Amino acid sequence: MTKPPPSEIRALFNRIAPVYDQLNNDLSLGQHRIWKRMAVKWSQPKPGDVAFDLCCGSGDLAQLLARQVGSTGQVYGADFAPELLAIARQRSDRQFPPLSIHWVEADALNLPFENNFFDCATIGYGLRNVTDIPRCLRELHRVLKPGAKAAILDFNRPTDPISIAFLKWYLEAIVVPSAKQLSLQEEYAYIAPSLDRFPLGTEQVRLAKAAGFAIATHYPIAFGMMGVLTVTKA
Ligand SMILES: C[S@@+](CC[C@H](N)C(=O)[O-])C[C@H]1O[C@@H](n2cnc3c(N)ncnc32)[C@H](O)[C@@H]1O
Repeated sequence: MTKPPPSEIRALFNRIAPVYDQLNNDLSLGQHRIWKRMAVKWSQPKPGDVAFDLCCGSGDLAQLLARQVGSTGQVYGADFAPELLAIARQRSDRQFPPLSIHWVEADALNLPFENNFFDCATIGYGLRNVTDIPRCLRELHRVLKPGAKAAILDFNRPTDPISIAFLKWYLEAIVVPSAKQLSLQEEYAYIAPSLDRFPLGTEQVRLAKAAGFAIATHYPIAFGMMGVLTVTKA
């Protein structure tokens, strides 16, 4: 099945923006917070760093990064869906002490940042949604400084039959009906095909190296249901 065009993906995320956080919490039983903390830790942010959260959505990872880089650091959250960025901005404005995060409307395939700009980066559930994964990885590589690390969290495509069956059941029995209650059945039915198209961990490693990363490792987490691809620029 071919990927929908970027305009359709952007429209989809703008539509689900009002319920995105609630659904994320419900569907993962709050576990996505733990997986996001792991991704932030693996991107190795330090006080004073310039950190990047690409495909930031409503900004969970950007907020976690902001706490790590502290008042001497800076965080940029970039996404192409303005409705989600608006929620990200509102949420970070409500934090105390206030978090200084630059919210940037931008396409992951054509980032408006100079080469070698960021000290570390995260992507949460974004790589699966971009229309050109190799290009997104090349852009990420370009904007990272030499030595910088990024952690890319997403669903994992399990390979053992039990996990495959569990994930299929979870998507069909939990995700789609929960979304249906919010009249977003069509929008969430998109997850399963997007996962079928998403490269396996080994392929993600190959793509990351082809994009220029010196080190790339894929770690299955959450009983193999999720995965984190960590990459380092030479
Ligand atoms: C499933 S959401 C994840 C949001 C957030 N990172 C999280 O973990 O909750 C995927 C995000 O990727 C964004 N996205 C998809 N393709 C993009 C692109 N080409 N450029 C920028 N953002 C994109 C969507 O707008 C959406 O906010």
